[in-house]
Amino acid sequence: MAENKDKHVAKKEDGEREILTTRQGHPVRDNQNIRTVGNRGPATLENYHFIEKISHFDREEVPERVVHARGSGAFGYFETYGKVGDEPVEKYTRAKVFSGAGKQTPLMVRFSTVAGAKDSPETARDPRGFAVKMYTEDGNWDLVGNNLKIFFIRDAMKFPDMIHAFKADPASNVPNPQRMFDFVSRSPEATHMITFLFSPWGIPATYRHMQGSGVNTYKWVNEEGKAVLVKYHWEPKQGIRNLTQEEANSIQATNVGHATQDLYEAIERGEYPEWELFVQIMEDDYHPELDFDPLDDTKLWPEDKFPWLPVGKMVLNRNPEDFHAEIEQAAFGTGVLVDGMDFSDDKMLQGRTFSYSDTQRYRVGSNYLKLPVNAPKVPVRTNQQRGQMDTRDPKESGESPHINYEPSMIGGYRDAGDKAYPPHQPSYNAALMSEPIDRPNNYGQAGETYRSFEDWERDELINNLSDALAICDKRIQEAMFNHFTQADEDYGRRVKEATEKKMKEIEKMAQEGKLPGRESGISKYGQGT
Ligand code: HEM
Repeated sequence: MAENKDKHVAKKEDGEREILTTRQGHPVRDNQNIRTVGNRGPATLENYHFIEKISHFDREEVPERVVHARGSGAFGYFETYGKVGDEPVEKYTRAKVFSGAGKQTPLMVRFSTVAGAKDSPETARDPRGFAVKMYTEDGNWDLVGNNLKIFFIRDAMKFPDMIHAFKADPASNVPNPQRMFDFVSRSPEATHMITFLFSPWGIPATYRHMQGSGVNTYKWVNEEGKAVLVKYHWEPKQGIRNLTQEEANSIQATNVGHATQDLYEAIERGEYPEWELFVQIMEDDYHPELDFDPLDDTKLWPEDKFPWLPVGKMVLNRNPEDFHAEIEQAAFGTGVLVDGMDFSDDKMLQGRTFSYSDTQRYRVGSNYLKLPVNAPKVPVRTNQQRGQMDTRDPKESGESPHINYEPSMIGGYRDAGDKAYPPHQPSYNAALMSEPIDRPNNYGQAGETYRSFEDWERDELINNLSDALAICDKRIQEAMFNHFTQADEDYGRRVKEATEKKMKEIEKMAQEGKLPGRESGISKYGQGT
C-alpha cells in the first residue's frame, strides 16, 4: 500500500482494520447488498441491519439553531492573570476562574453567523457569534457574545420580530434587505448597530481575526456580597481584519465556508489562535451623570471613563473530533454563571436567559446537559432526572438511590445552606410596568462611531447602505435618512445622495432591460444580511 501522509487516513492494511458492527454489537457481514429474493429483489422486511442503517440515517440531523445556525468551534483553555488591571481580582469577584495567576480552565468556543442557515456563506454581512463555555472548578460558565460590542435592540420583546425581518421572505424564501430596513426604520435604537454592520466591521475576515464581546452587562460579586457592573471583551492577538463587500463577494464565489476552514486549518498547523479577555467595570447604580443608560446594550461604555482592564487570555489548541457531537450539539446560555457572577437588571439579558435553555430542550433534547460537550467537569448531583435519552449511570444515583427529592431526613442530597459567602441581594422599589427606558439617546453614539471611522470605512458604509436602501420603499428610505441625519448631518446627507444616485442607475438599467429579479429585491443592489 502506498504510504498516505494524511494524518486523517488510517495506516492499516484493509485486512487489519477493525470489523464494522451494528449498534447492537453484531458484526456486519455484508454492508453493500440488502437481503432480497434472488439477487434482483424484491427486498424483505426482516433486513435488520439495512432498516436500522437507513432509519438512523433518516434521523441524523437535529433541528438547526433558530439563529446562529452556521458555525464552527474549537477547544482550548483560559488562563487567568489573577488581577484585573493592577488590582487583585478578588476585590471585585470571588469567581474562582479568575483567581490564582496562571491557573488554566478548559473551555470550548463556538463562532457563528446569525441569520443564515446551517450551510450559508460565512461571508455574510451579519454579526458573528462568539460563545465561550468554560468548564470551571465551580461548574460551567458560558459567555455568549458577539463580535460587535453592541446590539440592534434593547428589549427582548422585539427579538423574534427582528429575526423574522432579517431572514428571508416567508412566502418566497427570498432574502430582501427591505425587510431589515423596514424593521430598523421603526427601531431607532438600531441606528448605532446598523452603522457598524454596514461598515467593513460587518464582515470579519475570519473568526480568528475578530473581537468578541459579552454585549450585555453582567455583575461581579466579591466575598462581601458587594457587586459591580461588568462588560467583557475579547481581543484577538492575531489582529483584527475585516472584508470590504467586494472582497467578501470574491471569496463567496468559490468558498462558502472559508471561516470554518481557516480556523480548522490554523489549529491543525499548530497556529493556535489567542484572545485576551478585558473587562470594563462600573459601580452598580443608575449613573445619572451619563447621557445613556449603562444597561442599554445599544451603547458602548466610553473607554476613557471605563478603561479596558486585562484579566486573562484564551488559547484554542484542539479541533473537534466530531463536529456534530461537539459543536452542533453544544448548548450555551446566558444563565450559566458561577458563584461570584450575577445578572444585571439589563432586560435584554433577562429575556435571553429564558430563551437559550428553552430552545435547547427542543433542539437537542431535555437531557442536553448530559452530553459530554455540555456537561460540567465537576460532579453533578441532581434530582432533575428521567426524560428522553436519560443516560444516567446507576452509580450516579448517589448514596441513597431511593431519595430523589429534597429536603429529606432519611437520605438524598442537601442544599449547601450555610453558604461560604454572603449573597448579593439588590433591593427594588418601583412599580411594575411595560415601558421604554428613560435615556434612549438613540443617535449620539451612532454619530460618534460614524466620525471615528477612517475615510475608506465611511465610504464603504455609505456604499453598502445605499446599495441596500436603493431598493427599499420610499417611506423606509426617508425614515432611514432621518435616523442617519440625527446621528450626524454629513452621514445622513451622504447616504441620501448615494441612494438617490443608485436609484437613478437602477432605473436606467431597468429601462435597458438589464435588471433581472428587481421585483423580488435580488440584484447587485442590496446584499441583505
Ligand atoms: C444563539 C436567543 C440576543 C448571541 C441564540 C439562540 C437563541 C437565541 C434561541 C439559539 C441557541 C441554540 O439553539 O442553542 C436570543 C434572544 C436574544 C438574543 C431571545 C435577545 C433577547 C443575543 C445577543 C447576543 C447573542 C445580544 C450577543 C451578545 C448569541 C450567540 C448564539 C446565540 C453567540 C450562538 C450560540 C452557539 O454558538 O450555540 N440566541 N439571543 N444573542 N445568541 Fe442569542
